[in-house]
Amino acid sequence: MTTRKRPEDLRSHRWFGPNDLRSFGHRSRLRQMGYDAEDWTGRPVIGIINTWSDINPCHVHLRSRAEDVKRGVLQAGGFPLELPAMSLSESFVKPTTMLYRNMLAMEVEELLRSHPLDGAVLLGGCDKTTPGLLMGAISMDIPAIFVPAGPMLRGNWHGNVLGSGSDSWKYWDEKRAGRITDEQWAEIEGGIARSYGTCMVMGTAATMMAVAEALGFTLPSASSIPAPDANHPRMATQSGRRAVEMVWEDLTPSKILSAETVDNAIKVHLAMGGSTNCIIHLVAIARRAGIKLDMNRFDELSREIPVIANVRPSGAFLMEDFYYAGGIKALMSQLRSVLDLDRPTVTGKTVGQNIEGAEVYKADVIQSLNNPVSRDGATAVLKGNLAPRGCVIKPSAAEKRLHKHRGKVIAFEDYNHMAREIDREDLDVTADHVLVLKNAGPQGGPGMPEWGMLPIPKKLLKQGVRDMIRISDGRMSGTSYGACILHVAPESFVGGPLAFVQTGDEIEIDVPARKIHLHISDEEMARRKAAWKAPSPKYPRGYGAMFSEHIGQADDGCDFDFLSQAGKVSEPEIH
Ligand code: FES
Repeated sequence: MTTRKRPEDLRSHRWFGPNDLRSFGHRSRLRQMGYDAEDWTGRPVIGIINTWSDINPCHVHLRSRAEDVKRGVLQAGGFPLELPAMSLSESFVKPTTMLYRNMLAMEVEELLRSHPLDGAVLLGGCDKTTPGLLMGAISMDIPAIFVPAGPMLRGNWHGNVLGSGSDSWKYWDEKRAGRITDEQWAEIEGGIARSYGTCMVMGTAATMMAVAEALGFTLPSASSIPAPDANHPRMATQSGRRAVEMVWEDLTPSKILSAETVDNAIKVHLAMGGSTNCIIHLVAIARRAGIKLDMNRFDELSREIPVIANVRPSGAFLMEDFYYAGGIKALMSQLRSVLDLDRPTVTGKTVGQNIEGAEVYKADVIQSLNNPVSRDGATAVLKGNLAPRGCVIKPSAAEKRLHKHRGKVIAFEDYNHMAREIDREDLDVTADHVLVLKNAGPQGGPGMPEWGMLPIPKKLLKQGVRDMIRISDGRMSGTSYGACILHVAPESFVGGPLAFVQTGDEIEIDVPARKIHLHISDEEMARRKAAWKAPSPKYPRGYGAMFSEHIGQADDGCDFDFLSQAGKVSEPEIH
Protein backbone atom coordinates (compact mmCIF):
# COMPACT_ATOMS: atom_id res chain seq x y z
CA MET A 1 0.00 0.00 0.00
CA THR A 2 1.37 3.45 -0.90
CA THR A 3 1.79 5.89 1.94
CA ARG A 4 0.37 9.26 1.05
CA LYS A 5 2.30 12.33 1.95
CA ARG A 6 0.93 14.70 4.57
CA PRO A 7 0.89 18.47 3.92
CA GLU A 8 3.78 18.96 6.36
CA ASP A 9 5.83 16.44 4.33
CA LEU A 10 5.66 18.60 1.22
CA ARG A 11 8.96 19.95 0.00
CA SER A 12 7.38 23.42 -0.32
CA HIS A 13 6.45 23.32 3.37
CA ARG A 14 10.11 24.10 4.12
CA TRP A 15 9.64 27.45 2.38
CA PHE A 16 6.12 28.34 3.49
CA GLY A 17 5.37 26.36 6.67
CA PRO A 18 7.74 27.42 9.47
CA ASN A 19 6.85 30.27 11.75
CA ASP A 20 10.11 32.14 11.23
CA LEU A 21 11.44 35.23 9.53
CA ARG A 22 12.57 33.42 6.35
CA SER A 23 9.17 31.85 5.72
CA PHE A 24 7.48 35.13 6.55
CA GLY A 25 9.55 36.59 3.69
CA HIS A 26 8.46 33.84 1.27
CA ARG A 27 4.80 34.16 2.19
CA SER A 28 4.83 37.95 2.02
CA ARG A 29 6.26 37.69 -1.51
CA LEU A 30 3.47 35.32 -2.55
CA ARG A 31 1.01 37.85 -1.15
CA GLN A 32 2.82 40.50 -3.21
CA MET A 33 1.68 38.58 -6.31
CA GLY A 34 -1.92 38.58 -5.12
CA TYR A 35 -2.06 35.13 -3.56
CA ASP A 36 -3.18 34.49 -0.03
CA ALA A 37 -2.84 31.61 2.41
CA GLU A 38 -5.76 29.80 0.81
CA ASP A 39 -3.69 29.44 -2.38
CA TRP A 40 -0.79 27.59 -0.83
CA THR A 41 -1.67 26.14 2.56
CA GLY A 42 -1.58 22.37 2.43
CA ARG A 43 -1.42 22.36 -1.38
CA PRO A 44 1.32 20.76 -3.48
CA VAL A 45 3.13 23.42 -5.48
CA ILE A 46 3.36 22.28 -9.09
CA GLY A 47 6.01 23.90 -11.26
CA ILE A 48 4.95 24.10 -14.89
CA ILE A 49 8.25 24.08 -16.73
CA ASN A 50 7.38 25.71 -20.02
CA THR A 51 9.60 25.74 -23.10
CA TRP A 52 7.27 28.11 -24.95
CA SER A 53 8.86 30.99 -26.85
CA ASP A 54 7.96 33.40 -29.63
CA ILE A 55 10.62 31.81 -31.80
CA ASN A 56 9.63 28.19 -31.44
CA PRO A 57 6.80 27.35 -33.87
CA CYS A 58 6.59 23.85 -32.43
CA HIS A 59 5.77 25.25 -28.98
CA VAL A 60 3.65 28.31 -29.82
CA HIS A 61 0.57 26.73 -28.23
CA LEU A 62 2.36 25.88 -24.99
CA ARG A 63 1.65 29.39 -23.75
CA SER A 64 -2.04 28.57 -23.56
CA ARG A 65 -1.46 24.89 -22.69
CA ALA A 66 0.18 26.09 -19.49
CA GLU A 67 -3.17 27.66 -18.61
CA ASP A 68 -4.88 24.33 -19.29
CA VAL A 69 -2.40 22.62 -16.99
CA LYS A 70 -3.00 25.23 -14.29
CA ARG A 71 -6.74 24.57 -14.47
CA GLY A 72 -6.08 20.89 -13.79
CA VAL A 73 -3.69 21.61 -10.93
CA LEU A 74 -6.26 23.89 -9.29
CA GLN A 75 -9.06 21.37 -9.80
CA ALA A 76 -7.00 18.78 -7.94
CA GLY A 77 -6.16 21.10 -5.06
CA GLY A 78 -2.64 22.10 -6.07
CA PHE A 79 -0.94 25.46 -6.47
CA PRO A 80 0.36 25.94 -10.05
CA LEU A 81 3.33 28.17 -10.83
CA GLU A 82 4.73 28.53 -14.33
CA LEU A 83 8.48 28.77 -14.83
CA PRO A 84 10.00 29.39 -18.27
CA ALA A 85 12.90 27.28 -19.53
CA MET A 86 14.95 27.65 -22.68
CA SER A 87 12.90 26.77 -25.72
CA LEU A 88 15.48 25.15 -28.06
CA SER A 89 13.70 25.70 -31.33
CA GLU A 90 15.15 23.13 -33.70
CA SER A 91 14.44 25.40 -36.65
CA PHE A 92 16.24 28.49 -35.46
CA VAL A 93 18.90 27.67 -32.85
CA LYS A 94 22.39 27.51 -34.37
CA PRO A 95 24.76 25.84 -34.79
CA THR A 96 22.55 23.09 -33.37
CA THR A 97 20.15 22.62 -30.47
CA MET A 98 22.24 19.63 -29.42
CA LEU A 99 24.81 22.11 -28.17
CA TYR A 100 22.20 23.16 -25.62
CA ARG A 101 20.33 19.96 -24.66
CA ASN A 102 22.47 19.56 -21.57
CA MET A 103 22.09 23.23 -20.76
CA LEU A 104 18.30 22.78 -20.74
CA ALA A 105 18.71 19.67 -18.59
CA MET A 106 20.83 21.63 -16.13
CA GLU A 107 18.34 24.48 -16.15
CA VAL A 108 15.44 22.14 -15.41
CA GLU A 109 17.33 20.38 -12.61
CA GLU A 110 18.27 23.68 -11.01
CA LEU A 111 14.82 25.26 -11.50
CA LEU A 112 13.25 22.32 -9.72
CA ARG A 113 15.93 22.23 -7.05
CA SER A 114 16.08 25.89 -6.17
CA HIS A 115 12.36 26.69 -6.05
CA PRO A 116 9.67 25.58 -3.59
CA LEU A 117 8.23 22.96 -5.92
CA ASP A 118 6.69 19.62 -4.95
CA GLY A 119 6.09 18.32 -8.45
CA ALA A 120 6.48 19.32 -12.06
CA VAL A 121 4.62 19.33 -15.35
CA LEU A 122 7.12 19.46 -18.20
CA LEU A 123 5.95 21.12 -21.43
CA GLY A 124 7.99 20.44 -24.54
CA GLY A 125 8.41 18.28 -27.61
CA CYS A 126 10.61 19.96 -30.20
CA ASP A 127 13.56 17.59 -30.58
CA LYS A 128 16.02 18.23 -27.72
CA THR A 129 13.43 19.61 -25.33
CA THR A 130 11.98 16.20 -24.46
CA PRO A 131 15.31 14.64 -23.41
CA GLY A 132 16.47 17.90 -21.82
CA LEU A 133 13.31 18.15 -19.69
CA LEU A 134 13.36 14.48 -18.73
CA MET A 135 17.07 14.41 -17.89
CA GLY A 136 16.71 17.39 -15.56
CA ALA A 137 13.60 15.99 -13.87
CA ILE A 138 15.15 12.54 -13.48
CA SER A 139 18.24 14.00 -11.83
CA MET A 140 16.13 16.08 -9.45
CA ASP A 141 13.79 13.14 -8.85
CA ILE A 142 10.63 14.90 -7.74
CA PRO A 143 7.27 13.74 -9.20
CA ALA A 144 7.12 14.88 -12.82
CA ILE A 145 4.74 14.35 -15.71
CA PHE A 146 5.46 15.24 -19.34
CA VAL A 147 2.99 17.07 -21.59
CA PRO A 148 4.13 16.48 -25.17
CA ALA A 149 3.65 19.45 -27.52
CA GLY A 150 2.19 17.06 -30.12
CA PRO A 151 2.70 16.96 -33.87
CA MET A 152 1.48 19.63 -36.28
CA LEU A 153 -1.11 18.84 -38.98
CA ARG A 154 -0.13 17.22 -42.29
CA GLY A 155 1.46 19.49 -44.86
CA ASN A 156 -0.29 20.08 -48.18
CA TRP A 157 0.76 21.19 -51.65
CA HIS A 158 -1.36 20.79 -54.77
CA GLY A 159 -3.13 17.86 -53.16
CA ASN A 160 0.15 16.20 -52.16
CA VAL A 161 0.65 15.41 -48.49
CA LEU A 162 3.88 17.01 -47.28
CA GLY A 163 5.96 15.79 -44.34
CA SER A 164 8.28 18.02 -42.28
CA GLY A 165 11.90 17.78 -43.24
CA SER A 166 11.55 14.62 -45.33
CA ASP A 167 9.72 16.43 -48.12
CA SER A 168 11.96 19.50 -47.82
CA TRP A 169 14.94 17.28 -48.67
CA LYS A 170 12.99 15.43 -51.34
CA TYR A 171 11.68 18.48 -53.18
CA TRP A 172 14.98 20.36 -52.72
CA ASP A 173 16.68 17.53 -54.59
CA GLU A 174 13.98 17.77 -57.27
CA LYS A 175 14.64 21.51 -57.49
CA ARG A 176 18.39 20.96 -57.75
CA ALA A 177 17.72 18.40 -60.45
CA GLY A 178 15.67 21.05 -62.31
CA ARG A 179 12.27 19.34 -61.88
CA ILE A 180 10.64 21.97 -59.61
CA THR A 181 10.30 25.66 -60.49
CA ASP A 182 11.02 28.56 -58.10
CA GLU A 183 7.27 29.31 -57.96
CA GLN A 184 6.44 25.73 -57.01
CA TRP A 185 9.19 25.75 -54.42
CA ALA A 186 7.68 28.92 -52.86
CA GLU A 187 4.25 27.23 -52.72
CA ILE A 188 5.78 24.25 -50.94
CA GLU A 189 7.34 26.68 -48.44
CA GLY A 190 3.85 27.94 -47.61
CA GLY A 191 2.26 24.50 -47.35
CA ILE A 192 4.69 22.30 -45.51
CA ALA A 193 4.01 23.60 -41.98
CA ARG A 194 0.31 24.32 -41.58
CA SER A 195 -0.20 24.56 -37.84
CA TYR A 196 1.64 24.84 -34.56
CA GLY A 197 3.13 21.64 -33.18
CA THR A 198 6.22 19.57 -33.80
CA CYS A 199 7.40 17.98 -37.02
CA MET A 200 4.78 15.44 -38.05
CA VAL A 201 6.94 12.72 -39.53
CA MET A 202 8.65 10.15 -37.31
CA GLY A 203 11.48 12.56 -36.64
CA THR A 204 13.27 13.10 -33.39
CA ALA A 205 10.35 15.02 -31.87
CA ALA A 206 7.73 12.32 -32.53
CA THR A 207 10.20 9.63 -31.54
CA MET A 208 11.21 11.23 -28.25
CA MET A 209 7.63 12.12 -27.30
CA ALA A 210 6.70 8.46 -27.88
CA VAL A 211 9.73 7.34 -25.91
CA ALA A 212 8.70 9.60 -23.03
CA GLU A 213 5.32 7.88 -23.10
CA ALA A 214 6.86 4.39 -23.31
CA LEU A 215 9.07 5.25 -20.33
CA GLY A 216 5.88 5.98 -18.40
CA PHE A 217 6.12 9.78 -18.20
CA THR A 218 2.85 10.78 -19.94
CA LEU A 219 -0.83 10.01 -19.81
CA PRO A 220 -1.81 7.20 -22.22
CA SER A 221 -1.69 8.25 -25.89
CA ALA A 222 -0.65 11.81 -24.98
CA SER A 223 2.32 11.75 -27.33
CA SER A 224 0.29 11.14 -30.49
CA ILE A 225 -2.37 13.86 -30.14
CA PRO A 226 -1.95 16.49 -32.87
CA ALA A 227 -1.20 19.85 -31.26
CA PRO A 228 -4.33 21.65 -32.64
CA ASP A 229 -6.72 18.81 -31.67
CA ALA A 230 -9.11 19.67 -28.80
CA ASN A 231 -7.97 16.48 -27.09
CA HIS A 232 -4.62 18.19 -26.58
CA PRO A 233 -5.70 20.88 -24.08
CA ARG A 234 -7.88 18.27 -22.36
CA MET A 235 -4.79 16.06 -21.97
CA ALA A 236 -2.87 19.06 -20.58
CA THR A 237 -5.55 19.65 -17.94
CA GLN A 238 -5.67 15.97 -17.02
CA SER A 239 -1.88 16.00 -16.66
CA GLY A 240 -2.13 18.96 -14.27
CA ARG A 241 -4.64 17.08 -12.15
CA ARG A 242 -2.50 13.98 -12.16
CA ALA A 243 0.66 15.91 -11.16
CA VAL A 244 -1.00 16.87 -7.87
CA GLU A 245 -1.91 13.26 -7.10
CA MET A 246 1.61 12.13 -7.98
CA VAL A 247 2.99 14.43 -5.30
CA TRP A 248 0.72 12.94 -2.62
CA GLU A 249 1.73 9.47 -3.82
CA ASP A 250 5.41 10.49 -3.98
CA LEU A 251 5.58 8.91 -7.44
CA THR A 252 9.06 10.03 -8.45
CA PRO A 253 10.98 9.26 -11.68
CA SER A 254 13.23 6.80 -9.84
CA LYS A 255 10.14 4.73 -8.98
CA ILE A 256 9.13 4.63 -12.64
CA LEU A 257 12.43 4.01 -14.39
CA SER A 258 14.20 0.67 -14.57
CA ALA A 259 16.20 -1.33 -17.09
CA GLU A 260 12.92 -2.99 -18.15
CA THR A 261 11.23 0.39 -18.69
CA VAL A 262 14.14 1.49 -20.83
CA ASP A 263 13.87 -1.74 -22.86
CA ASN A 264 10.17 -0.98 -23.39
CA ALA A 265 11.12 2.46 -24.69
CA ILE A 266 13.74 1.04 -27.06
CA LYS A 267 11.21 -1.45 -28.41
CA VAL A 268 8.63 1.27 -29.00
CA HIS A 269 11.30 3.41 -30.68
CA LEU A 270 12.24 0.53 -32.99
CA ALA A 271 8.62 -0.34 -33.80
CA MET A 272 7.98 3.32 -34.62
CA GLY A 273 11.00 3.39 -36.98
CA GLY A 274 12.26 6.17 -34.71
CA SER A 275 15.01 8.68 -35.20
CA THR A 276 18.65 7.66 -34.76
CA ASN A 277 18.94 10.61 -32.36
CA CYS A 278 16.94 8.57 -29.88
CA ILE A 279 19.96 6.37 -29.27
CA ILE A 280 22.00 9.27 -27.93
CA HIS A 281 19.15 10.73 -25.89
CA LEU A 282 17.97 7.48 -24.36
CA VAL A 283 21.49 6.50 -23.33
CA ALA A 284 21.79 9.88 -21.57
CA ILE A 285 18.33 9.59 -19.97
CA ALA A 286 18.96 6.05 -18.70
CA ARG A 287 22.36 6.88 -17.27
CA ARG A 288 20.86 9.83 -15.36
CA ALA A 289 18.73 7.21 -13.61
CA GLY A 290 21.72 4.97 -12.95
CA ILE A 291 20.65 2.44 -15.59
CA LYS A 292 23.49 1.00 -17.64
CA LEU A 293 22.68 1.38 -21.31
CA ASP A 294 24.78 1.46 -24.42
CA MET A 295 23.92 1.41 -28.08
CA ASN A 296 24.53 -2.32 -28.42
CA ARG A 297 21.18 -2.84 -26.70
CA PHE A 298 19.47 -0.98 -29.56
CA ASP A 299 21.18 -3.27 -32.02
CA GLU A 300 20.21 -6.42 -30.11
CA LEU A 301 16.57 -5.43 -29.84
CA SER A 302 16.51 -4.17 -33.41
CA ARG A 303 17.04 -7.77 -34.57
CA GLU A 304 13.84 -8.71 -32.70
CA ILE A 305 11.57 -5.73 -33.25
CA PRO A 306 10.53 -4.78 -36.80
CA VAL A 307 9.16 -1.39 -37.82
CA ILE A 308 5.36 -1.53 -37.57
CA ALA A 309 4.44 2.17 -37.74
CA ASN A 310 3.93 3.05 -41.38
CA VAL A 311 5.06 6.63 -40.89
CA ARG A 312 7.61 8.61 -42.90
CA PRO A 313 10.55 8.52 -43.35
CA SER A 314 10.47 4.70 -42.97
CA GLY A 315 6.84 4.44 -44.12
CA ALA A 316 4.12 6.31 -45.98
CA PHE A 317 1.89 8.19 -43.50
CA LEU A 318 2.23 11.05 -41.02
CA MET A 319 1.67 11.45 -37.27
CA GLU A 320 -1.85 12.78 -37.77
CA ASP A 321 -2.75 9.51 -39.55
CA PHE A 322 -0.98 7.61 -36.79
CA TYR A 323 -3.21 9.26 -34.18
CA TYR A 324 -6.39 8.45 -36.12
CA ALA A 325 -5.15 4.87 -36.44
CA GLY A 326 -5.15 4.54 -32.64
CA GLY A 327 -1.93 6.31 -31.69
CA ILE A 328 0.82 5.07 -29.48
CA LYS A 329 -1.59 3.10 -27.28
CA ALA A 330 -2.57 1.05 -30.29
CA LEU A 331 1.05 0.61 -31.33
CA MET A 332 1.98 -0.54 -27.84
CA SER A 333 -0.93 -2.95 -27.82
CA GLN A 334 0.58 -4.52 -30.98
CA LEU A 335 3.78 -4.99 -28.97
CA ARG A 336 2.06 -6.60 -25.97
CA SER A 337 3.94 -9.86 -26.38
CA VAL A 338 7.34 -8.17 -26.20
CA LEU A 339 6.77 -5.36 -23.67
CA ASP A 340 7.08 -5.62 -19.90
CA LEU A 341 3.48 -4.76 -19.08
CA ASP A 342 4.02 -4.57 -15.32
CA ARG A 343 6.12 -1.42 -15.39
CA PRO A 344 4.70 1.53 -13.40
CA THR A 345 3.81 4.84 -15.06
CA VAL A 346 2.80 8.35 -14.03
CA THR A 347 -0.86 7.31 -14.11
CA GLY A 348 -0.27 5.14 -11.05
CA LYS A 349 -1.19 2.19 -13.25
CA THR A 350 1.00 -0.22 -15.15
CA VAL A 351 1.84 -0.09 -18.85
CA GLY A 352 -0.52 -3.03 -19.38
CA GLN A 353 -3.40 -1.28 -17.59
CA ASN A 354 -2.78 1.91 -19.57
CA ILE A 355 -3.13 0.17 -22.92
CA GLU A 356 -6.08 -1.97 -21.89
CA GLY A 357 -8.69 -2.04 -24.66
CA ALA A 358 -6.53 -0.19 -27.18
CA GLU A 359 -7.38 -0.97 -30.79
CA VAL A 360 -5.83 -0.37 -34.17
CA TYR A 361 -8.34 1.45 -36.37
CA LYS A 362 -6.26 1.58 -39.55
CA ALA A 363 -4.21 -1.54 -40.09
CA ASP A 364 -2.26 0.01 -42.96
CA VAL A 365 -0.90 2.74 -40.65
CA ILE A 366 -0.17 0.67 -37.55
CA GLN A 367 0.82 -2.77 -38.76
CA SER A 368 1.71 -5.79 -36.69
CA LEU A 369 4.70 -7.87 -35.65
CA ASN A 370 3.57 -10.54 -38.12
CA ASN A 371 3.02 -8.09 -40.94
CA PRO A 372 5.55 -5.30 -40.37
CA VAL A 373 6.42 -2.32 -42.54
CA SER A 374 10.06 -3.37 -42.53
CA ARG A 375 12.07 -6.17 -41.04
CA ASP A 376 15.31 -4.33 -41.76
CA GLY A 377 15.25 -2.70 -38.35
CA ALA A 378 15.34 0.95 -37.32
CA THR A 379 18.85 0.72 -35.92
CA ALA A 380 22.01 -1.17 -36.70
CA VAL A 381 25.25 -0.54 -34.81
CA LEU A 382 28.32 -1.14 -36.95
CA LYS A 383 31.83 -1.57 -35.61
CA GLY A 384 35.27 -1.86 -37.14
CA ASN A 385 38.60 -0.10 -37.49
CA LEU A 386 36.82 3.08 -38.61
CA ALA A 387 34.47 3.15 -35.61
CA PRO A 388 35.97 1.17 -32.71
CA ARG A 389 33.23 2.42 -30.35
CA GLY A 390 30.54 2.07 -32.97
CA CYS A 391 28.41 4.03 -35.40
CA VAL A 392 24.78 3.71 -36.45
CA ILE A 393 22.65 3.37 -39.56
CA LYS A 394 18.89 3.21 -40.00
CA PRO A 395 18.55 0.27 -42.41
CA SER A 396 14.80 0.75 -42.81
CA ALA A 397 15.35 4.22 -44.32
CA ALA A 398 18.24 3.25 -46.64
CA GLU A 399 18.17 1.68 -50.11
CA LYS A 400 18.63 -2.04 -49.64
CA ARG A 401 21.38 -2.35 -52.27
CA LEU A 402 23.57 -0.22 -49.97
CA HIS A 403 23.30 -2.51 -46.95
CA LYS A 404 26.42 -4.26 -48.34
CA HIS A 405 28.77 -2.02 -50.20
CA ARG A 406 32.41 -1.28 -50.88
CA GLY A 407 33.40 2.01 -52.48
CA LYS A 408 36.06 4.63 -52.96
CA VAL A 409 36.05 7.54 -50.56
CA ILE A 410 35.61 11.24 -51.18
CA ALA A 411 36.59 12.87 -47.88
CA PHE A 412 35.60 16.32 -46.68
CA GLU A 413 37.55 17.87 -43.82
CA ASP A 414 34.54 19.81 -42.48
CA TYR A 415 31.09 21.07 -43.41
CA ASN A 416 32.35 24.14 -45.30
CA HIS A 417 34.73 22.01 -47.35
CA MET A 418 31.84 19.70 -48.23
CA ALA A 419 29.53 22.62 -49.10
CA ARG A 420 32.15 24.09 -51.45
CA GLU A 421 32.82 20.84 -53.28
CA ILE A 422 29.63 18.81 -53.38
CA ASP A 423 27.92 20.44 -56.36
CA ARG A 424 31.00 21.00 -58.51
CA GLU A 425 30.42 19.69 -62.02
CA ASP A 426 33.99 18.37 -62.13
CA LEU A 427 33.66 16.41 -58.86
CA ASP A 428 34.91 12.93 -59.66
CA VAL A 429 31.99 11.05 -58.11
CA THR A 430 29.79 8.09 -58.96
CA ALA A 431 26.86 6.53 -57.12
CA ASP A 432 29.27 3.91 -55.76
CA HIS A 433 31.48 6.43 -54.00
CA VAL A 434 31.41 6.78 -50.22
CA LEU A 435 31.15 10.37 -49.01
CA VAL A 436 32.92 11.04 -45.70
CA LEU A 437 32.42 14.14 -43.57
CA LYS A 438 34.81 14.83 -40.67
CA ASN A 439 34.58 17.23 -37.75
CA ALA A 440 30.82 17.01 -37.25
CA GLY A 441 30.96 15.30 -33.86
CA PRO A 442 30.23 16.43 -30.30
CA GLN A 443 33.40 18.52 -30.12
CA GLY A 444 34.05 18.98 -33.82
CA GLY A 445 30.67 20.46 -34.77
CA PRO A 446 30.59 21.44 -32.02
CA GLY A 447 27.39 19.95 -30.67
CA MET A 448 27.19 17.16 -33.24
CA PRO A 449 25.03 18.99 -35.79
CA GLU A 450 22.59 17.20 -38.07
CA TRP A 451 24.91 17.24 -41.07
CA GLY A 452 24.95 13.46 -41.46
CA MET A 453 22.57 13.32 -44.42
CA LEU A 454 25.20 14.77 -46.77
CA PRO A 455 23.57 16.07 -49.95
CA ILE A 456 23.75 13.84 -52.99
CA PRO A 457 26.08 15.63 -55.47
CA LYS A 458 24.06 17.60 -58.03
CA LYS A 459 25.78 15.73 -60.82
CA LEU A 460 24.39 12.44 -59.51
CA LEU A 461 20.94 13.85 -58.81
CA LYS A 462 20.64 14.71 -62.48
CA GLN A 463 21.47 11.09 -63.26
CA GLY A 464 18.60 9.99 -61.02
CA VAL A 465 20.70 8.89 -58.02
CA ARG A 466 18.77 9.38 -54.76
CA ASP A 467 20.85 7.42 -52.23
CA MET A 468 24.49 6.60 -51.59
CA ILE A 469 26.70 5.79 -48.61
CA ARG A 470 27.52 8.80 -46.49
CA ILE A 471 29.60 8.55 -43.30
CA SER A 472 30.16 11.13 -40.57
CA ASP A 473 30.60 11.63 -36.86
CA GLY A 474 27.55 13.91 -36.91
CA ARG A 475 23.87 13.15 -36.46
CA MET A 476 21.02 13.36 -38.92
CA SER A 477 17.57 14.74 -38.47
CA GLY A 478 14.98 12.10 -37.70
CA THR A 479 13.13 13.44 -40.71
CA SER A 480 16.08 12.47 -42.93
CA TYR A 481 16.63 9.22 -44.73
CA GLY A 482 19.17 7.37 -46.79
CA ALA A 483 22.25 5.22 -46.30
CA CYS A 484 23.79 7.60 -43.78
CA ILE A 485 26.22 6.15 -41.28
CA LEU A 486 26.26 8.40 -38.26
CA HIS A 487 27.66 8.97 -34.77
CA VAL A 488 31.09 7.49 -35.62
CA ALA A 489 32.85 7.17 -32.28
CA PRO A 490 35.33 8.31 -31.28
CA GLU A 491 34.87 11.41 -33.42
CA SER A 492 37.51 12.77 -35.80
CA PHE A 493 38.05 16.00 -33.84
CA VAL A 494 39.55 14.07 -30.93
CA GLY A 495 41.65 11.79 -33.17
CA GLY A 496 39.20 8.98 -33.90
CA PRO A 497 40.10 6.93 -37.01
CA LEU A 498 37.66 8.96 -39.14
CA ALA A 499 40.24 11.77 -38.92
CA PHE A 500 42.70 9.68 -40.94
CA VAL A 501 40.45 8.79 -43.87
CA GLN A 502 41.64 10.18 -47.21
CA THR A 503 40.05 10.60 -50.61
CA GLY A 504 40.81 7.50 -52.65
CA ASP A 505 40.70 5.08 -49.69
CA GLU A 506 38.13 2.32 -49.77
CA ILE A 507 35.47 1.68 -47.12
CA GLU A 508 33.39 -1.46 -46.83
CA ILE A 509 29.99 -1.61 -45.17
CA ASP A 510 28.20 -4.80 -44.21
CA VAL A 511 24.99 -4.02 -42.34
CA PRO A 512 23.85 -7.66 -41.86
CA ALA A 513 27.28 -8.46 -40.37
CA ARG A 514 27.33 -5.10 -38.48
CA LYS A 515 30.75 -4.24 -39.90
CA ILE A 516 32.47 -1.14 -41.20
CA HIS A 517 36.05 -1.31 -42.43
CA LEU A 518 38.54 1.19 -43.77
CA HIS A 519 40.76 -0.74 -46.17
CA ILE A 520 44.17 0.46 -45.08
CA SER A 521 46.79 -1.49 -43.15
CA ASP A 522 47.32 -1.05 -39.42
CA GLU A 523 50.77 0.35 -40.19
CA GLU A 524 49.31 2.97 -42.53
CA MET A 525 46.67 3.86 -39.93
CA ALA A 526 49.44 4.30 -37.32
CA ARG A 527 51.50 6.43 -39.71
CA ARG A 528 48.54 8.73 -40.44
CA LYS A 529 47.74 8.96 -36.74
CA ALA A 530 51.30 10.01 -35.89
CA ALA A 531 51.14 12.76 -38.52
CA TRP A 532 47.72 14.05 -37.33
CA LYS A 533 47.55 17.41 -35.54
CA ALA A 534 44.71 18.01 -33.08
CA PRO A 535 42.60 21.02 -34.10
CA SER A 536 42.19 23.87 -31.61
CA PRO A 537 38.94 24.05 -29.66
CA LYS A 538 36.24 26.01 -31.48
CA TYR A 539 35.04 27.97 -28.46
CA PRO A 540 37.84 29.45 -26.33
CA ARG A 541 35.43 30.94 -23.76
CA GLY A 542 31.93 30.81 -22.32
CA TYR A 543 29.43 27.95 -22.39
CA GLY A 544 31.07 26.52 -25.53
CA ALA A 545 34.39 26.13 -23.70
CA MET A 546 32.66 24.33 -20.84
CA PHE A 547 30.79 22.18 -23.36
CA SER A 548 34.03 21.13 -25.09
CA GLU A 549 35.69 20.28 -21.82
CA HIS A 550 32.92 18.09 -20.44
CA ILE A 551 30.94 16.64 -23.36
CA GLY A 552 30.89 12.87 -23.78
CA GLN A 553 31.09 11.00 -27.08
CA ALA A 554 28.00 9.84 -29.00
CA ASP A 555 28.10 6.31 -27.58
CA ASP A 556 28.01 7.82 -24.08
CA GLY A 557 24.89 9.85 -24.84
CA CYS A 558 26.74 13.17 -25.16
CA ASP A 559 25.99 14.10 -21.58
CA PHE A 560 28.35 16.23 -19.50
CA ASP A 561 30.67 14.08 -17.40
CA PHE A 562 29.64 15.91 -14.22
CA LEU A 563 25.92 15.38 -14.88
CA SER A 564 25.74 11.88 -16.27
CA GLN A 565 25.76 9.96 -13.01
CA ALA A 566 22.71 9.10 -10.96
CA GLY A 567 22.64 10.25 -7.37
CA LYS A 568 20.63 12.30 -4.96
CA VAL A 569 20.64 16.02 -5.73
CA SER A 570 21.21 17.96 -2.53
CA GLU A 571 18.36 20.12 -1.31
CA PRO A 572 19.13 23.83 -1.00
CA GLU A 573 19.61 25.17 2.50
CA ILE A 574 16.92 27.65 3.46
CA HIS A 575 18.25 30.50 5.56
FE1 FES B 1 10.51 21.43 -33.79
FE2 FES B 1 10.97 19.62 -35.83
S1 FES B 1 11.48 21.73 -35.71
S2 FES B 1 10.06 19.32 -33.91
